[in-house]
Order: sequence, then structure tokens, then C-alpha cells
Amino acid sequence: MIVAIDGPAASGKGTLAKRLAEHLGFHCLDTGLLYRAVARDVAQRGFRLDDLWAAVATARGLDPKELEDPDLRGTAAGDAASIVARIPEVRAALLAYQRDFARRPPGAVLDGRDIGSVVCPAADVKIFVTATPEVRARRRFTEFEARGAGISYETVLADILIRDQRDSGRANAPMVLATDAMLLDTSNLSIEAAFDAAVGLIKRKIGHPGC
Ligand code: DC
Repeated sequence: MIVAIDGPAASGKGTLAKRLAEHLGFHCLDTGLLYRAVARDVAQRGFRLDDLWAAVATARGLDPKELEDPDLRGTAAGDAASIVARIPEVRAALLAYQRDFARRPPGAVLDGRDIGSVVCPAADVKIFVTATPEVRARRRFTEFEARGAGISYETVLADILIRDQRDSGRANAPMVLATDAMLLDTSNLSIEAAFDAAVGLIKRKIGHPGC
């Protein structure tokens, strides 16, 4: 069974995907990390992020086991990822790994931007997680504040809007609400309530015994 979770930056889709995978006893893949790792490696090799040849060669040579680097989780890595993610050949190079992962028994939860639309169009369950840009920015800002990162709410909001625009405006595999995806707006939901709502959606769709 495949559960596809898509949605914009800071929508809470990663936390949700992880919790659903634990709940269902499934494997979990945060596909954003693949793009983040490609961007990191391109930059480390001294190339520009939009250098087609360097980005494609890096994506083809990526070892998906090397995604543990905590630096990959930061905002800068996310912004860089959304730049290499615009390159169709980079996306193509990462496709087989994601599809193989999705087929792992007993099931897998994948989160990203194009899981339900391109990577796993036949996924058993597709959920598009969203929240208003202001709510997403507020959540990110609170995380940054707790870590003492001196960044304003306005800057965080501006970054989120730029990323949304880049991810949904690109020609290849843009972030879209797949026609058969269920929309989960977490603007007014806690993590716990969002999880319960997602479990409810899965139950309604397939009645999985774990739900
Ligand atoms: O989910 P994330 O914020 O970690 O993703 C970082 C960037 O990677 C995102 O802005 C766009 C790109 N990405 C993508 O294009 N397709 C995916 N399936 C996952 C991420």
C-alpha cells in the first residue's frame, strides 16, 4: 500500500507522514531530502545550483543513504533544493529510487510535492496537506525563535511565498493538488488533530485495519 502526502513548505506534511508511517508500520521517505542533498552536493563541489550538468551528474550519483546530515533540514537547504528541483533531468534521476521505495512491503508513506501526481499516480491514498502561508510562516518562525535564530516573521513569510511560487510555478512536475487527492487544511489544527484527521481520511478511503 502506498500513501502519498504532498503539500507546500512548512505545511506539516513531514511530521504527518512520519506519524502515519509509524502508526501503519510502513516505511517513510521524505523526498524533499533527496533534492536537498543534491543541492548540498552541487554547492559543495563549487558549482552553481542551476548548473544543469553538475546538478544532473550529482543527482545521478546521489547515495540516498546519505540523508542524515542535520544541515539538510534548514531553510537554506530547502531554498537551494527548490532550485535544483526545477531541472527535469534532476527529477528524472531521482524517480526510480522513489518508486522502488514506494513498493517496499508492507507499505510506504512518501511526502513531497509530486508524489500523488508523478511519482506514484496510482497511490492507494493521496493527501494534500496545506495551511495558509501566514500560519505556515508563524509555525516556522516559532521554531526559529526557540532555536534563537535571529530571523523575523516577515522574512520567514517572504521565503515561504517565494518557495510556493517556485514549486508550483515550475513547468516540470509542479506542486499540484492531484485530482484524486484529499485536501487536509491544517491552518486551525494542532499536530495531534491533523494526525487524527489524516487517519480518518485513510480509513474512509480504504479502511486499513491499522486505522
Ligand atoms: O519538502 P521540502 O521542503 O523538504 O522540499 C524542499 C524542496 O525540494 C521543495 O521546495 C521543492 C523540492 N521538492 C520537489 O520538488 N519535489 C518533491 N517531491 C520534494 C521536494
